[in-house]
Amino acid sequence: MMQELPTLSEIYAKGMANLDKIGVKSPFSLGTYTTATPTATRNYLDSLFFTPCFIDTGEADTSLSLFGKKFKTPVFCSAISKFPFMSDNWPTEVGTGVAKAGSFMMIGLGGSDELQQAIDSGAPVIKIIKPYRHTELIYEKVRDAETRGCVAVGMDIDHALGRLRGDRVDGTEMRGPQTSNELRKIISSTQLPFIVKGILNVQDAQKAVDIGAAAVLVSNHAVNSFLFGLPSPIALPAIAESVGKKLIVMVDSGFKTGNDALKGLALGARAVGYGNSIVMALMADGATGVEVLINQITAELRRSMVATNCAHLTDINKSIITTIR
Ligand SMILES: Cc1cc2nc3c(=O)[nH]c(=O)nc-3n(C[C@H](O)[C@H](O)[C@H](O)COP(=O)(O)O)c2cc1C
Repeated sequence: MMQELPTLSEIYAKGMANLDKIGVKSPFSLGTYTTATPTATRNYLDSLFFTPCFIDTGEADTSLSLFGKKFKTPVFCSAISKFPFMSDNWPTEVGTGVAKAGSFMMIGLGGSDELQQAIDSGAPVIKIIKPYRHTELIYEKVRDAETRGCVAVGMDIDHALGRLRGDRVDGTEMRGPQTSNELRKIISSTQLPFIVKGILNVQDAQKAVDIGAAAVLVSNHAVNSFLFGLPSPIALPAIAESVGKKLIVMVDSGFKTGNDALKGLALGARAVGYGNSIVMALMADGATGVEVLINQITAELRRSMVATNCAHLTDINKSIITTIR
């Protein structure tokens, strides 16, 4: 008999239980005095409903091309970095799972060794660089990403004001605000597509177009950069409408399931990122956990695409969702 794959909730529960065993209560950032943004994100996603149809439905294809590469799924591993509870070979584990699922991964804070491990795993890798005050370090990291064979490179611009550890801001001595002019120079210094991560408003998205970015990632960094930042699925539609024809729009922050992914795509994203979920899957079952997680999210996405009469990702738009508050 074929062994049944674990469900998403089983993966999340096992990841949480394994973290609990080593005394980690929450993997990322929710030690803040308010969980307003993740709660509002969840409530908003849960207020969106599909009208399913079940007669004459066909197959659905979740494949897409981005940055000159083909992927089996628009569900990707958003930029993650080593937290103390993760093993040293985490980039290999995550990369192997991502590659087997036909997806791609972003890798955040960390050195060349971790980047190389991710690339050697066979996964298409995008390096997300911090908005360092020391500009030469940014150029060095862009060159490093190029020589090691990244698919694209980018910056989490929302860490320009430091990051939040609980309610404490840190990292401000290392990171600082970036100007359009400097970003334009950085972008034109590389042949790689450049992603501006952490966009939550139309003005910044338009600036990303003006400076030559290939993509924006609508994100509130899972509340690690700014408390009370807009929930990304609420910020997304206006951004997608204003710049979606000029560059690739992606989204993350608060997406957990395949139905969440379909809602993100319907609100205007081309691909949907998962951060904490990937870390949970890594803690649950290493590379296999990551592969199964992406496959399970994609299976639910595919099923709901069929039920909403979307044979291809390009058929998905706002008309498939109704808001009920
Ligand atoms: C363990 C961990 C480390 C992260 N490190 C980075 C990082 O170095 N750079 C970055 O841009 N985002 C980083 N993020 C944020 C993610 O890229 C992403 O924006 C966020 O996790 C998405 O929300 P979600 O966790 O609700 O899916 C990290 C997330 C996690 C869970």
